[in-house]
Order: sequence, then C-alpha cells, then structure tokens
Amino acid sequence: MNDPIATPRAFSASAPLKGRIAIPGDKSISHRSLMLSALAVGRSRVTGLLEGHDVLATAAAMRAMGAQIERREGGEWVIDGVGVGGLLQPREALDMGNSGTSTRLLMGLVASHPITATFVGDASLSGRPMGRVIDPLSAMGADISASPGGRLPLMVRGLAPAIPLSYRLPMASAQVKSAVLLAGLNTPGITEVIEPVPTRDHSERMLRGFGADLTVDTDSDGTRHIHIRGEAELKPQVIDVPGDPSSAAFFIVAALIVPGSEVTIANVGLNPTRAGLVAVLRAMGGDIEELDRRDVGGEPVADLRVRHSALKGIDVDPAVAPSMIDEFPILFVAAALADGQTTTAGLDELRVKESDRLAVMAAGLRAIGARVEEREDGLIIDGSGGDTLPGGATIAGHLDHRICMSFAVAGLASKAPVTVDDIAPVATSFPNFEALLAELQA
Ligand code: S3P
Repeated sequence: MNDPIATPRAFSASAPLKGRIAIPGDKSISHRSLMLSALAVGRSRVTGLLEGHDVLATAAAMRAMGAQIERREGGEWVIDGVGVGGLLQPREALDMGNSGTSTRLLMGLVASHPITATFVGDASLSGRPMGRVIDPLSAMGADISASPGGRLPLMVRGLAPAIPLSYRLPMASAQVKSAVLLAGLNTPGITEVIEPVPTRDHSERMLRGFGADLTVDTDSDGTRHIHIRGEAELKPQVIDVPGDPSSAAFFIVAALIVPGSEVTIANVGLNPTRAGLVAVLRAMGGDIEELDRRDVGGEPVADLRVRHSALKGIDVDPAVAPSMIDEFPILFVAAALADGQTTTAGLDELRVKESDRLAVMAAGLRAIGARVEEREDGLIIDGSGGDTLPGGATIAGHLDHRICMSFAVAGLASKAPVTVDDIAPVATSFPNFEALLAELQA
C-alpha cells in the first residue's frame, strides 16, 4: 500500500509552533472497533476512526470475510457484523500492508473459524516474526504454514471448534495477548491469557464493552490472568475513538524542543497502559499540562498544553517500556536535545517493530550529529543541551512511519535540513501529519 515512488521530504529549523490541533483516532482502538463490530450481531457506529492505511487494511479484510463496512459522509463508519462464528472464507489473500496489528489480531480471529486465509504484506511486515502468534494459535488447533522464519506470506487454516488454551505470554505484547483472546471468542469454554507484564488493555476493555464475558484477576506480583468465555455473542456498539497518544507524541516533543512553542493537542487518549511518554517527558522537565480530563468511549482523555522546555537527560525505568513502546523513537529525539545523558534499557522488542528501531534511530541520530551509543537492548544518548543539532543528512525511513515522523521532528531543531527519504509511510498511522505541522508553523 506504500507509494511505489519514494517521496523525499526535507524538514528545517522551525519558527515557534503555536496553536491548537486535534490528532486522528487511536490506531489500536480503531482496529479493534472494526474487528469487534464486524463480529457483533447488528449495526455498530464508529466516529473518530483513524483512516490510515493500517486501519483500512483491517477494514478491507473484515469486508473480505463478510462484514458490511461503510463510511458515511461526515466520517461516521457503519458496520453490520456477521456474528462470532460467522466469518466467511475470503476469496483472495488478505493484504495487511504494513500492519502488524491487523495481521496478528486477524490471525487470531481466523484461527477459531472454519475458514482458511492467506496473509500477505509489504517488505517491512514480511520481515517481522509471526512465531509469537503461530505458537499459541497452533496449540488451539489452527494449522498454520508460514514462510521461513515464521514470516509472511502465511496461511492460517482455522479449526472450529478450537481448543481452549491457558497461555502465558513469553514477551510483553498486546498483539499476542489480543490474538489469543480473539481466537478465544469463538472457542468453547474458557481461554486464559497470563500476562506477567501489563500491556495496553484496549482489547479487554472493548471486549467487555461489546458484552463478552471477560474477567481479569491480578496476582500480588502484578501478573494478570485474563479469562474469556467463548462462543460469545457480541452486541453492537456506538464508539467514539479518542485521539492517539502515539501520534500526539510527535507534536508533544516538537513543541518541547522548538524554542518559543506553545501547542494544545486536543482529545489525547491517556489510558495508563499508553501514557508512559508523558510521565517520562515530565521527569525530563517537560512542561505538559492536562486540561479538561474526561472520559471518551470508556478511555481517559485530556487536552494537552505543551510549552517549549529545557529538557534534562534521565535514566528511563525499563518498567515503563510497555506503556510507551511505540514512543521510543521520538523520545530518543527529545533526549538528543536534552542537557546530559539519557539511558534506556529493556527495549529488545524495538528490534522487531516496523523496523529495527534501535539500530535505525541510532544510525539516523548519529547522521544528524547526535551522540548515541547503541546497546543490545537500548540507546544511551548524550544530549546537546538544547542547542540545535547539525542536521544536514538524508535519513532512510525503512518503511517505518514512526521513524519518518521522528526525523521530521528532529529536523525542526536542526541547523541544516533533515531529509526523510520517503514520507509516504506516515500515512499508515497519521495521514495529516504534515498538514498539522504546517498549521502550527503558520
Ligand atoms: C499494538 C501493540 C504494540 C504496538 C503496536 C500496536 C496493538 O505491539 O507496538 O503499534 O494495537 O495491540 P506489541 O504488542 O507487539 O508490542
């Protein structure tokens, strides 16, 4: 789904960013809204849906498996579900584009339906490990043939009825957790996921919201036991998707590092399993104020007012990693502008995202003059103390939207322009990123 012709874009030292913007809907919640609505009995309505390529890949796949999904004028999405157990055999391969979330969660759905689906994706997605979902879904009875290394293209032959499973997550992954819970939806009896380290809990909240019998028990050491009763009947919902904190992150950091900036970002989702970046940036001295804290679609939300701040380096506690797992690339940019050293560790998962985000960020930051040491599981960054970075390099985005946006923001605080070799991947999660940046610069 990426533009076959690369579109390079240069980002230069910026005048103060000023104004108020609203960011697009949360990617994780948007995927789940479409999937669960497509499995409900009746008509769901969704507003605020992120209309990025990743979410559109989920919409196309759910349509290919029988759901009716329509976008109405004004941006409301109307979904007529097929009911749990009612997914139809897709006629063609499901094109997942760049989207790991679509792939892993839909593999879970297919695994417990009596259908066979082939999953294909772009070069980035085809390099990412799927063994982490193949293992539990195979234990539930699905027959999965993958390309070497447990990668895409792969074919899932579902089993119905599937076999309920109790599965302890070997890594902190909301995608793996969700794949097993979604497979459990159409599996007789109770499927259990044991989660030693908490990850984003949108699946649990939303499955409950749709009427599934799902319980969470937490041990004294924090381990969560999530149980879902299968052969569930989901009731259609009306959903308002809150703004994506992972998209807000780029403008939060941009406002912090561009002198003179004051930006208000409206409607930012602040679910505690997602809000790690705000806490870390505050600990670095970032002036981030929460205004009008409220509830949107069962999720805590606030407007964030962010002012340029003198940041200082800190040691980031590895325990916060799951609550800001997608925000490390942009945190590294903030650290490169901070006063003193920032250390991060426990970030092995960053090596298997849309790109190897530790290697790609280390190489790119060095190319624009930052001082970075790459460790096996994190980066050590010696910041500039607020001085602009030299810049003046072209950065390879590796089909990774968050790498592209991180270096776009770095360019705003660099002496010579920073060129992103291809800006197209940004549309996977944040189609109007450049338009909002232009608004704040106007
Ligand atoms: C997501 C979970 C995270 C995150 C991804 C979206 C989700 O991946 O990186 O962007 O919606 O469940 P992992 O669960 O693999 O860490």
